[in-house]
Amino acid sequence: MTLTQALQQSAHILSVNGIEDSYIEARMLLGHITKLSPVQIYTRTEQTLSQEQKGSLHELIERRLRREPTAYIVNHREFYGIDFYVDSRVLIPRPETELLVDTAVEFSKNSTYLPNPLLIADIGTGCGAIAISLALNLPRSKIYATDVSYSALKVARLNCEHHKVTRQVTLLQGNLLEPVPEPVDLIVANLPYVRNSELENLSPEITRFEPRTAIDGGKNGLKCIRQLLEQAEEKTSPRGCLLLEIGQNQEKEVVPLIYRYFKKVECKFIPDLNGIKRVVKVTF
Ligand SMILES: C[S@@+](CC[C@H](N)C(=O)[O-])C[C@H]1O[C@@H](n2cnc3c(N)ncnc32)[C@H](O)[C@@H]1O
Repeated sequence: MTLTQALQQSAHILSVNGIEDSYIEARMLLGHITKLSPVQIYTRTEQTLSQEQKGSLHELIERRLRREPTAYIVNHREFYGIDFYVDSRVLIPRPETELLVDTAVEFSKNSTYLPNPLLIADIGTGCGAIAISLALNLPRSKIYATDVSYSALKVARLNCEHHKVTRQVTLLQGNLLEPVPEPVDLIVANLPYVRNSELENLSPEITRFEPRTAIDGGKNGLKCIRQLLEQAEEKTSPRGCLLLEIGQNQEKEVVPLIYRYFKKVECKFIPDLNGIKRVVKVTF
């Protein structure tokens, strides 16, 4: 079987079984097996697969048909142009979260009035995607990255080592801001924000495979965010900033919550490419 045939057959099987973007997914699985880049897969049309490779591809397709996310099967996901190791211990970083990183980088570069190096806390770091993207783009910053999940932090450690930022990023286990030892200039958080009632409507890729602690935001989706706001005052330096990712239509509930804890802050929403108010920026 040639690479082209393997690609076409795999994409077809995925597609008739309801997997979206079947060509891209098939190409990723084939790339994982053959260690070839997307361009090599498309151009080496006559190259054939060994028996062993055919068997492995079959196994991966079976896993995908059981709805395991491709990122877990191939153990990586690109985020902010950086490659991250992922497995079922961590949430797969989403493209919309890149807006949080963009906003944090912009804030950091424009905050010349804040001390240098800038102190940052990434709360609920998961695989470390936000903390490591910030570390690589703001090489003078010092970052605390917390997570309640010890197994998620093991994945974050692997990624910090791979990207050589272990001296810049300090990983801490604990509840939200509690383990952060000093006030920081910038808090960035993509915490679980899915309402309990919406959990069952999510795709099987999420409900069967991604960690529940990474998505379950309690009854109104704001359980973690409310707790973070409660803790934020004593962990934020004067003129610091808090950046939160929120879900669609959560802004109406988030604003009163913010003003319940902070009377004199400036609050701004930043929309994503679909116009959804995705990031809340609270300036102290
Ligand atoms: C939506 S995921 C985000 C992961 C990563 N920051 C990203 O954007 O891809 C939320 C993360 O928050 C962590 N988390 C949930 N509750 C927490 C808590 N009370 N304290 C610290 N981390 C928590 C979860 O374990 C999970 O890794």
